[in-house]
Formats: sequence, structure tokens, C-alpha cells
Amino acid sequence: MSFPKDFLWGAAAAAYQIEGAAMEDGRGLSIWDVYSHDKNVDSGTGRMNIDNGDTGDVACDHYHRYKEDVALMKEIGLKAYRLSISWSRVLPEGKGKINEKGLDFYGDLVDELLKAGIEPYVTLFHWDLPQALMNLGGWSNPDSPDWFAEYVKVVTDKLSDRVTHWITFNESQCHIIIGHLLGECAPKLKLPYPEVFQAMHHLFLAHGKAVQTIRKYSAKPCMVGYAPCASEVYPVTDKKEDIDAARRAAFDASAKNLWNTSWWIDPIVHGRYPKEGIEAFAEYFPEALLKEEDLALISQPLDFLGINLYRGSGIRHTEEGYVQAEKKIGFDRTAFKWPVTPKVLHYMPKFLFERYHLPVLITENGLSMADWVSLDGKVHDPQRIDFMNRYLLELSKALDEGVNVVGYFAWSIMDNFEWSQGYGERFGLIHVDFETQKRTLKDSAYWYRDIITSNGEGLQGL
Ligand code: NOJ
Repeated sequence: MSFPKDFLWGAAAAAYQIEGAAMEDGRGLSIWDVYSHDKNVDSGTGRMNIDNGDTGDVACDHYHRYKEDVALMKEIGLKAYRLSISWSRVLPEGKGKINEKGLDFYGDLVDELLKAGIEPYVTLFHWDLPQALMNLGGWSNPDSPDWFAEYVKVVTDKLSDRVTHWITFNESQCHIIIGHLLGECAPKLKLPYPEVFQAMHHLFLAHGKAVQTIRKYSAKPCMVGYAPCASEVYPVTDKKEDIDAARRAAFDASAKNLWNTSWWIDPIVHGRYPKEGIEAFAEYFPEALLKEEDLALISQPLDFLGINLYRGSGIRHTEEGYVQAEKKIGFDRTAFKWPVTPKVLHYMPKFLFERYHLPVLITENGLSMADWVSLDGKVHDPQRIDFMNRYLLELSKALDEGVNVVGYFAWSIMDNFEWSQGYGERFGLIHVDFETQKRTLKDSAYWYRDIITSNGEGLQGL
């Protein structure tokens, strides 16, 4: 018996990826509206910002269809649903005037979820910064932590009589690295490293203030967490030396590479930036970011550590330390060409739990496949079933070893707007026909229902 009795079986989505209604009921623009509407073809890459010029204007039209969607979640038997709030729907200018209609949408959605017996997990920031705040410098502006705290208070005041589980930031590293350093996502900036560190630091301060705000104003006792991704690794064998090598790789910030996990979780949980990382970036890392009072604010106590896990690299021990193992020729891969590496769900929760001592919540896991509605009217996605089965089996090994994993959210509840890939990647348990908005439960949704009902006992190979 691997899965604890109260294990949380859920699925997730994010505001810009599913809501649509981008120009309705007083919603303000976010950086993703602006980015997706820029249809210029880059002369270097020959690409538009978003494949096919797709936008989130309509997406899954969830804003209008949330009742139908919650009914489908109930049919699947979800115990929890992770949603995110569109900041610019609530505060069109990012601060100041509240858009009551936008706020009401989230109140109604939460009511509908609770009526269906589904626990809402609310993410406050899933990359869609209000454009009005971007115009003021976004995360480069020292006021940005206060803007975020103001927004979080508005949401807390509205929802905390019903919502008791909060997540501050989703994949902060993608937002900062891809959006602010590489310029390959909204807001499409290529800032020099010192400015990237400054933006990251403001985001961390915003996280700290948000945790304080939720705790101070919540109408009920609540749980607060954070949902970064990680530099995902796993040992190529279960030998101790490979496990130790993989653990080292997971948190090794000694290379001049901002993606390493320690950059994004150490400050939040331990209140310090990784020493070896600061050394690696010595000429770029602003010393002013090491202020003790800042780090104390950033490292507010958390109730759980969310983590998004998809695909990793195999690590092998060597005399000198470790190496990344080569992928085998023709390695198993998803439609997105991401390698299928179930072991990340065994080892990353274990490594994270050992280092941070917080209950681990898998806030995202899943895959995109080339799914379509077959002639029989169904969506057959055996590879998603096999993928989830394999990953969950590995997760059960972590549980067996005493790792405190409290839940698993499949990404995603439904096919949606996959950022730069637009509607070209399908991650859902529910198929969405984006022309008709018809929803069809995929085979994996029915399979997941059985897994939930049996509390994991239905997993093949358990
Ligand atoms: C991580 C992000 O949080 C989510 O928005 C995205 O769609 C999935 N990964 C899949 O790429």
C-alpha cells in the first residue's frame, strides 16, 4: 500500500492557458496578450512569438464554460484542482482599481469546485504579469513586491473564506530566465545578468510578502506553498554512488548556469543564495541582494513545496564527480520530443524532501501527445496512460522510502494554450476541439478516474 489514505489526486491548469475572454468584463492586458499579439516574424529564427500566430484570446473559453469543466472534473473524480488567477482580470492596471466582475469569476469558480467536492489550489502567479505593470518596469521595479502584495491581499480578501491552499509563484525560473534573460517568452527581454538577478530578487521578495499577506488576512487557517520547476535529474542506476552523484547534480550551482534548482529554492526555504552560484557569477551577482532583512523576508515559513516535474537527465558517478549520461538512440519521447524519464518522480521528490524538509506536492506532471477524436468518437491515448502509470509507480517508490509526498496534479485537466507552441501541443486529460469548444474525455481521463478511485492500487506493476 503505497499511497497514503488522504493522498491528493488532482489536475492543473493556468489562467492564460484556458480562460479566454481576454477582452471581456474589464480584464486588463497581460504581458502574454501583448506578446502573443505580436505576429512579426523574427528574421533570425523565421518564427513568430507563438507558433501559428495563436493567442489566448479564446483558448478553452473556460471563463464561460467553467461549470461544464467542473462537471467533467467531478466525473473524473478529482480531489483537487489547481487553477491560477489572472492578475490583470482582478486588477486591470495591476494595482489600484479592482475589477469586481473579474474577481467574481474566481469566487464563482471556487463555489462550483467546492460544490463538486473538489479542493481548489490557487496559484497567484502563472507568468501573466499585467502589462500596465510591465510598462512601469515589471519585476525590475523595486515597487514590484508591493504591487504583488496588494494584489494578493485583494484575492485573499475575496477567496480565503473558501480557499485554504495557496501557491505563490509557478515556475519562477522559466518566467525569469526564458522571459527576462533569453527573450524567448513574454516579456521578451534580454537583460544583462545583474538586472536578471535584480528581477529575480524582486520576485522572491514578492513571494515573501505574499506569504505574509495570505497568513495575515486569511479568513481561515491555510497552507501556503511555492511551485518552481527543477533541474531534473535521476541516477542511471540505483547504486548508491550514482544516487549520490545525481543528488549532487540536482543542487550543483557551481556552473555559470541559472537553471540549477538551488538558485530558485534555497533562498525561499533556507534564506540564502547558493554560495557556489554566487562564486560562479561573481562579476554579475549584485552584492546588495545579500541583505539579511531581504533574505529573512524571502524565506517565510512554508507549508509545502510544490514542484513541476516532466523530464530529466540520467546522471552517472565518475571519479571526478558526475556526468550526464547520453540518451539512448531513439529514446522514448513525447510529441513535444521531451524524453520520457519516470525516475524523476522517484528521485527529485526524495532529493527535495531531504534538502528542504517540506512536504512535497507534485504540482505538475504530464505529457503532450498527438491526440485526436477517433471515428468511434473517443480519444485513445494509451501512451499518456502508460506515461502516467510509469511516473506514478516511481512516485510510489519515493513514498515507500518515507518521502512525504502529499499529492499529484496531472498537467493538464484539458488541452490548452501551450505558450510558444500555441495549440500545437496537447497536454490534456480532456480533449478540446478549439473550433467548436467540444470537450471529450480521453481514455486517460477514465483511467485516471480508476486510479483515483482505487487510491493508486489500480496502477499496473504496483
Ligand atoms: C509548465 C508550466 O507551468 C505550464 O504552464 C506548461 O503548460 C507546462 N509546464 C507544459 O509545458
